[in-house]
Amino acid sequence: MVTVKVCVGTYCYLQGGQQLAQWRNYVPSHLQDKVTFLGSACLGCKEDTAKPPYVKVGNVVIERATAEKVVEEIEKQLEGDIEL
Ligand code: FES
Repeated sequence: MVTVKVCVGTYCYLQGGQQLAQWRNYVPSHLQDKVTFLGSACLGCKEDTAKPPYVKVGNVVIERATAEKVVEEIEKQLEGDIEL
């Protein structure tokens, strides 16, 4: 199981984060029940060096997040999981 936290802070929201809520739709169907999506307050960006939007997959923070980057990280983190 992987938790994906989508930053809904103002900076990320204005830089593409408003579309992140729909990113759940980009997760392949065979992975849908293994991913939990949550909205998150600011993940710690610094205004002068920020690269929004930010998404946290497990413990990995992704800057300039795209659906492709998020799905790739989800797949990477689920790779080692074994269903019992
Ligand atoms: S507003 Fe999104 S990480 Fe700061």
